[in-house]
Amino acid sequence: MEKINLAKASKITSPNPVALVCTQKPDGSTNIATVSWYTYLSYNPNMIAYAMAKTSYSGELVRSNKKVIITIPSENIKEIVMECGMKSGRDTNKIEEFKIKMQELPTSEIKIPIHSAAAIQCSLKEFIETGDHYLYICNVEEVYADSKEKAVFAWESYSKIASAKEA
Ligand SMILES: Cc1cc2nc3c(=O)[nH]c(=O)nc-3n(C[C@H](O)[C@H](O)[C@H](O)COP(=O)(O)O)c2cc1C
Repeated sequence: MEKINLAKASKITSPNPVALVCTQKPDGSTNIATVSWYTYLSYNPNMIAYAMAKTSYSGELVRSNKKVIITIPSENIKEIVMECGMKSGRDTNKIEEFKIKMQELPTSEIKIPIHSAAAIQCSLKEFIETGDHYLYICNVEEVYADSKEKAVFAWESYSKIASAKEA
């Protein structure tokens, strides 16, 4: 085998999962950021975790109000996956700029994009420093799904967003 770096390994593991982290801004509106580094942790109790760069606005928001919804985007909104991953909500209102239509969930104040295949409503349990990222460890409160929507994945080191079948 040849020695490679970790970034190159992410190309080998492609397609990688992709999610939209929805957090609540101080004015009550939602900030949306793209996250590929998420994982299930436990079914009893239900737990999930995701890693975000220390500088992310999403991180600042969840550390402050402890609430987050991790949504799985579908093919119908695949454009916003790249858009929400290229700009920070610190200086951009992504929902207005990218004309993202939102929907409500019955058990959360945080709105999420329409055409989500799944939505995992969480509260932050703790976060730990992992190099240049923080790992956010969350308790899952509720899980929703829309079987009409087909999940997308990140291909070729996060450069292409497509369903698993199509790409
Ligand atoms: C396909 C894709 C996957 C990404 N995955 C992650 C990730 O797992 N963790 C992370 O910190 N940033 C990831 N990013 C970058 C963030 O989405 C980006 O830094 C974003 O601007 C953060 O927004 P915020 O400052 O509003 O939180 C990804 C971007 C793309 C396009």
